[in-house]
Amino acid sequence: MDQAENLRNIIKKKTVIHENLARVITVTSGKGGVGKTSFSVNLAIQFAKQGKRVIILDADFGLANIEVMLGIRPQFTLADVMLGRKTLKEVITYGPENIGFLSGGSGIREFANMNNGQISSFVGRLYELDEMADVIIIDTGSGISDTVMEFVVASSEVMVVVTPEPTSITDAYSLLKTLKRKVNFNQQDTTIRIVGNRVRKRSEGLELFDKLNVVVKKFLGIELELIGLIPYDDKCQLSIMKQSPVSIEYPNAPSSRAFGEIAMLLSYENGEVKMPKNDGIRALFSSIIRLKTK
Ligand SMILES: Nc1ncnc2c1ncn2[C@@H]1O[C@H](COP(=O)(O)OP(=O)(O)OP(=O)(O)O)[C@@H](O)[C@H]1O
Ligand SMILES: [Mg+2]
Repeated sequence: MDQAENLRNIIKKKTVIHENLARVITVTSGKGGVGKTSFSVNLAIQFAKQGKRVIILDADFGLANIEVMLGIRPQFTLADVMLGRKTLKEVITYGPENIGFLSGGSGIREFANMNNGQISSFVGRLYELDEMADVIIIDTGSGISDTVMEFVVASSEVMVVVTPEPTSITDAYSLLKTLKRKVNFNQQDTTIRIVGNRVRKRSEGLELFDKLNVVVKKFLGIELELIGLIPYDDKCQLSIMKQSPVSIEYPNAPSSRAFGEIAMLLSYENGEVKMPKNDGIRALFSSIIRLKTK
């Protein structure tokens, strides 16, 4: 049995036993600085207000900006768990509304340095994370790096943040085009939602979506859903200075309301609780490992 096959067997074996799987939502964008982290943090707060247990995984291995927004600074990262130095419980820091925060650290690049035993024990331990959270939000870095694409390809719920700037729209298109070309992208089982951020008027947001949607449908054959528009809101900047999410500092600010509406749309449909396909974080990492060991 070669190493790749061995790993696939490890992953398969672990898949059947556990049932409590978290809903995993990956937040990404083509262009940087469009509001992914603000969205991830505020969506987390809004889900928490609905009584859900939420963990944010910071897969942006560069700048630690969630830490700034939440005013918390974790000492350890997912890399410590991967290398067997810490347990998941030890690396999660809790912030406002009791949302958990897990820093990716050097993250999935560590897979290259891990042996089968370490990968097996890491995948095994990920069930803990599924059991600790109802929703796991993954805040990715921007751009079309391999790491970002690995998370996006492996996720069944992807949210792409786009602003009305032309480059934000064209970069979102490039991201989706790259996604479409990935052999492991399963279009049928992936929901791609667009979040229009920093829009000054509703019409500007709708126009943004139309521009993107028309070309994505025509050239990529991908169906997009506009889940919501978040107005440009000075309170977003102010809350960053206060190191506390706008949804906490200014719960009635226009952006906070918009984050709340999106969380409602993601949770309920026609007054009924939505039943999303909760794949769990384990499935996501398993497919990333599969990609990496092919
Ligand atoms: N709705 C909004 N109204 C006004 N300002 C906003 C809004 N959303 C985000 N911002 C501001 O835009 C800037 C970038 O936001 P954020 O850090 O969330 O983007 P990002 O996509 O995570 O960036 P990066 O690509 O660097 O990770 C921040 O200063 C934030 O306050
Ligand atoms: Mg960010």
